[in-house]
Amino acid sequence: MNISIGTQSLTEIEADIVAVAVTAETRDAALADLDAAFGGTLLSTLDSDEFKPKSGAVASYATFGRIKAKRVLVVGMGDGDALGVMAAAGAVGKAARSSGTQNVAIDMGGMDATKTQIAVEGFVAGNYKFDRYKSGDSKKAAASQVTLLGGADAIGVSRGEAVSAGQDLARDLVNEPAEAIYPASLADVAMSLANDQLSVEVWEEDQIEAEGMGGIMGVGRGSDRKPRFIHMRYTPKGTPTRKIALVGKGVTFDAGGYSLKPSAGMQTMRCDMAGSAAVIGAMRAIRDLAPDVEVHGIVGAVENLVSGNAYKLGDILNMYSGKQVEIHNTDAEGRLVLADCLHYASQLGVDTIVDLATLTGAAVVALGNHYVAMFTKDDNLSNELKSSAAAAGENIWPMPLPEDYKSQLKAEWGDIKNVGGRAGGSITAALFLSEFVTDAKWCHLDIAGPAFLDKGYKHYAAGGTGSMVPTLARWVAG
Ligand code: BES
Ligand code: MN
Ligand code: ZN
Repeated sequence: MNISIGTQSLTEIEADIVAVAVTAETRDAALADLDAAFGGTLLSTLDSDEFKPKSGAVASYATFGRIKAKRVLVVGMGDGDALGVMAAAGAVGKAARSSGTQNVAIDMGGMDATKTQIAVEGFVAGNYKFDRYKSGDSKKAAASQVTLLGGADAIGVSRGEAVSAGQDLARDLVNEPAEAIYPASLADVAMSLANDQLSVEVWEEDQIEAEGMGGIMGVGRGSDRKPRFIHMRYTPKGTPTRKIALVGKGVTFDAGGYSLKPSAGMQTMRCDMAGSAAVIGAMRAIRDLAPDVEVHGIVGAVENLVSGNAYKLGDILNMYSGKQVEIHNTDAEGRLVLADCLHYASQLGVDTIVDLATLTGAAVVALGNHYVAMFTKDDNLSNELKSSAAAAGENIWPMPLPEDYKSQLKAEWGDIKNVGGRAGGSITAALFLSEFVTDAKWCHLDIAGPAFLDKGYKHYAAGGTGSMVPTLARWVAG
């Protein structure tokens, strides 16, 4: 998809769709030229169709040769703030994809860098569809040319493209079947992103074992597809102002192990590597945004299956940190994988660690599909991530981390149990992780709800969403 800035008028631009984003206040002026070309019928038709310029609302009309573009879309952007801009651009992207439209022009009124960036992100996200495995006529192509009219910002375009490429990558990785994305192939994707600023190191099974990563080894043992440990490192050209680590759960399929999931709950468990997809997608965006920040992307990649070699209830795993974890549920595997990654990240000398994981069903019960559950004791970090999320059009919500709930994790034979019971399931999971973080500020993001949608929401199609890539890109690279 080529995204460029154009200066043509709405009546002269050659495009399959020309879309005009409006608020209640800007509507008449923004559409004046088109209305004139339509002989004064466009505004009155909008009125008779009772079009209200709510965020993401769309009215679509054929142009019958009255302007050069074939179709005009009038889209609402609410009160015209950044989120309204994103919703409008997203709705245009989605409409273009459902008709397979190639050449789209959008006029959103004069836009600064921030609004241009989010318009690009919205359009690309709305235009996304995972149809690699569809054959024949049901396939609609993505847009090939997008022209932003009416004064858009060039830096905003390139930043938006960087974030969108990372988000699209994360969505593809989540949507791909577990037969295509498994630990080794996930590591290959991470390696394919390497360049002068981004190095990628991958440990295979032997090395993971030799290093003593008992959490990753334990969970991964039941699969013929062996685990990988991935360390991506972005080194800025300038002196780093901050050093951070992003850590992702990369369970490429979660059958639950011997604590087997029921079939319905297992159906979409290819999404259980969405934390690692967010990390890999964010690293891709960060590489292209080139901030003066040292950024480590750490992923533990495993499949959680059943076999004669799989880990069992009552096993005690000797973790990378040296803690001994007593297994009470093999389906609480993500925290075991993350624990080793968090201990590794803690040795890197970073100021801050943020981990992302589809960790608990309890987070989905608590907050639904549209809020990420955030756990941190650091109020500054919490505020930073909240404001990055707000700017990116994503939702995160703070959850408590009460020390005394740790009593739910008391073990009989080892140091700690891997589950804390039904009550506060996402909280005890986060408290478990906290046991493996040392010497850094830390935040855990449970993305189990937003990372994968069973049905479309706003301009997002069903499936992987690339949740938190836009937020992380802003948090790291401004
Ligand atoms: N991958 C699941 C969590 C999940 C659930 C992600 C729904 C996305 C959607 C995780 O590994 C898991 O199975 N968690 C268990 C923990 C329990 C055994 C303590 C859960 O949430 O039921
Ligand atoms: Mn599980
Ligand atoms: Zn899982």
